[in-house]
Amino acid sequence: MALFSREREEPNVLNGKIPRHIAVIMDGNGRWAKQRLMPRVFGHKKGVDSLREVITTCKEWGVEYLTVFAFSSENWRRPADEVTFLMGLFLQVLQSEVERMYRNNIQLKVIGNRSHFSAELLEMISAAEEKTSSNTGLVLTIAADYGGHWDILQATQQLLKDKPDLASCFTEVDIQPYLAMAYAPDPDLFIRTGGEQRISNFLLWQLAYTELYFTDLPWPDFGRSALGDAIFWYQGRERRFGRISEQLDATK
Ligand code: IPE
Ligand code: IPE
Ligand code: MG
Repeated sequence: MALFSREREEPNVLNGKIPRHIAVIMDGNGRWAKQRLMPRVFGHKKGVDSLREVITTCKEWGVEYLTVFAFSSENWRRPADEVTFLMGLFLQVLQSEVERMYRNNIQLKVIGNRSHFSAELLEMISAAEEKTSSNTGLVLTIAADYGGHWDILQATQQLLKDKPDLASCFTEVDIQPYLAMAYAPDPDLFIRTGGEQRISNFLLWQLAYTELYFTDLPWPDFGRSALGDAIFWYQGRERRFGRISEQLDATK
């Protein structure tokens, strides 16, 4: 009976503005597992369930783009067995989820430097992107072997390869189309779980004006209700983009 329910009432985020693009650093898997006296990789496995729930919720609430950090350029520095496990998990998740993504009208994209992936993983990534390419619902981007430094560098290199004449005079507008997420608007809301308050070389260029939300919840404990809290917090922000409040009121 709702009247006597002890459950906390969820904020109704659908009363406010839903962020078009949410970017997430899914952090805290290892510590979550360690707390339970389990190996770190147990946390990564559990993290896949959180991701599934967040995807479903984003779809339901009308988020257009969800971008998640799965493996950073710097994560290659981890112990070899953890790296191998993460690569295997990525492959396994692609294999098992792509059909469901396809049926749910999700378009999958993978961004990052693919040059260190196995041939099998590369093939699976291309097949998954290809299969979902004409879907028109949520655009899910997985950042794997991604780094913000890598992104800005590769964009600049591509630009100068295509347009060598611009070498001495290119601008922000010239770089933008070559960035890994050129197909999406910049994130409106950034969420990092796991308690750390840093960007860890995620979308450095694209986060310039994103609202940054940090929560102590480890990623395996994050789900629909925690996402609701983050979006509710976002809805209370005033996004000024360098202007002052009064100017925003004038355009309302
Ligand atoms: C994030 O969780 C997942 C990846 C980096 C792949 P961590 O593995 O960083 O977990 P913690 O931060 O050590 O708890
Ligand atoms: C960031 O988490 C990368 C991913 C979640 C994929 P890390 O756990 O690697 O970040 P740092 O090293 O603590 O900054
Ligand atoms: Mg971490």
